[in-house]
Amino acid sequence: MNLLPRTIRARMIAGLLVLLAFSCAILGVATSLAMERVLLGRIDQQLTGYGVRFAASLEHGEDTRGQAKGMFGARLVDGRVTQVGVVAREAALPVKLSPQDEQALAALPVGGPPETLDLSALDDYRVHAVAGRDGDVLVTGLSLHEVEEAVGRLQLLELSMFTGTLAVAGVVGAVWVRLSLRPLRRIATTARRVSELPLDSGEVTLAERVPDTDPRTETGLVGAAFNRMLGRVETALTRRHVVEQRLRTFAADASHELRTPLAAIRGHAELALRDGGQMSADVRHALSRIDAESGRMSELVDELLLLVRLDEGRPLAREEVDLTRLAIEATGDARAAAPGHRWRLELPEDPITVTGDPLRLHQVLANLLSNAGVHTPDGTTVTVAVRRLPDEVLVSVTDDGPGIPADLSEEIFERFSRADPGRSRATGGAGLGLAIVRAVMAAHGGSVDVLSHPGRTEFRLLLPAG
Ligand SMILES: Nc1ncnc2c1ncn2[C@@H]1O[C@H](COP(=O)(O)OP(=O)(O)O)[C@@H](O)[C@H]1O
Ligand SMILES: [Mg+2]
Repeated sequence: MNLLPRTIRARMIAGLLVLLAFSCAILGVATSLAMERVLLGRIDQQLTGYGVRFAASLEHGEDTRGQAKGMFGARLVDGRVTQVGVVAREAALPVKLSPQDEQALAALPVGGPPETLDLSALDDYRVHAVAGRDGDVLVTGLSLHEVEEAVGRLQLLELSMFTGTLAVAGVVGAVWVRLSLRPLRRIATTARRVSELPLDSGEVTLAERVPDTDPRTETGLVGAAFNRMLGRVETALTRRHVVEQRLRTFAADASHELRTPLAAIRGHAELALRDGGQMSADVRHALSRIDAESGRMSELVDELLLLVRLDEGRPLAREEVDLTRLAIEATGDARAAAPGHRWRLELPEDPITVTGDPLRLHQVLANLLSNAGVHTPDGTTVTVAVRRLPDEVLVSVTDDGPGIPADLSEEIFERFSRADPGRSRATGGAGLGLAIVRAVMAAHGGSVDVLSHPGRTEFRLLLPAG
């Protein structure tokens, strides 16, 4: 498990606080140690100053005059405590020492420096032992109560000050880090906005730029690099758009230019055929082939031109289109073109209308129906259904023919894509029919999809209702 904070901001603030807390702890320990040392030194001085008078007096009538209140005195003979007392206001108070206390007193080095003793009967005491005149040992001690209190107060004060400092540092640090990292956030926001732009086609303007580009800061360097990258991407996209545009213009011009000579060829072929005269059967056949093929080519050119126009995003007509009637007409045409198939209609009682281009929508349906007629054997049943969904209108063309190979069911909407690899001219056209269906549907804000397996192929058109 990763216990480290995730964001840079949290990491920086956590680091700052840990460092600060560490320094505060060191400072706190050092000051209270130093203070304790100074105060102990002063107590030791006092201890030497008072001498052993009180301890010596314990033997015969305590002498508490001029002694510090709470001063401890004890007399030991042969390592055994014989007298012990603490200076009270008037006289010495007797003290009940525990065996451990007596042992500790007896263990004091005689004539040694003062030591701190924790007497269980009293407070902590600073004591020292001195050899008495008659072979006894006199112990004098001063309470450390005040020293401990002073150090305790200092520690409390430090604790509250350090806590306050940490809290302020946390808040100020958070704001500071937030301000310093703001450019990074702006870069992220810009990047997100750019990624939401429709970059995959058409004319793209990448007007977005990051404002922080000061090269003296790290974030500025990132910002400047990011802006440069955006600039390059914009140039590349513009170039792509220009190329696309040129190709489109070329396709549009080419198909447009082809129409006139094609019309002329067809006209002349028809004229020659009608005129007849003494024409051999072979020539007649050749002329009729010229007529038929140039007719197919005109269709192809028209389809190409339509696709190019849809690509260009030319506005379509926006009229009320009665889909029910459209389905009846298109199915009638298909029945005439493929009388060997069974054509069925599933229509609702009330007519269903959408807003759109009636010619193009008719073409969509005609393409689907001609496919269902051409790419399936005789005897196939084709069902055309129009249905109203909650906020869409569904037109489906279903046949029980052999179906489309599964791996091709997405591809068939591409231009010039046909499932029949032989590209035989016997069936269908050049593979533009479904590409047109998809483009027209997209231009209407609708969609087309296909579900196909052997025995059932369903093309579904979805159009926005209304
Ligand atoms: N109802 C269908 N049943 C089987 N295959 C179909 C059907 N509709 C379309 N296809 C396949 O999809 C391909 C693409 O159709 P389309 O774009 O209209 O081109 P075209 O009809 O000119 O061949 C067709 O060549 C055909 O292989
Ligand atoms: Mg077709």
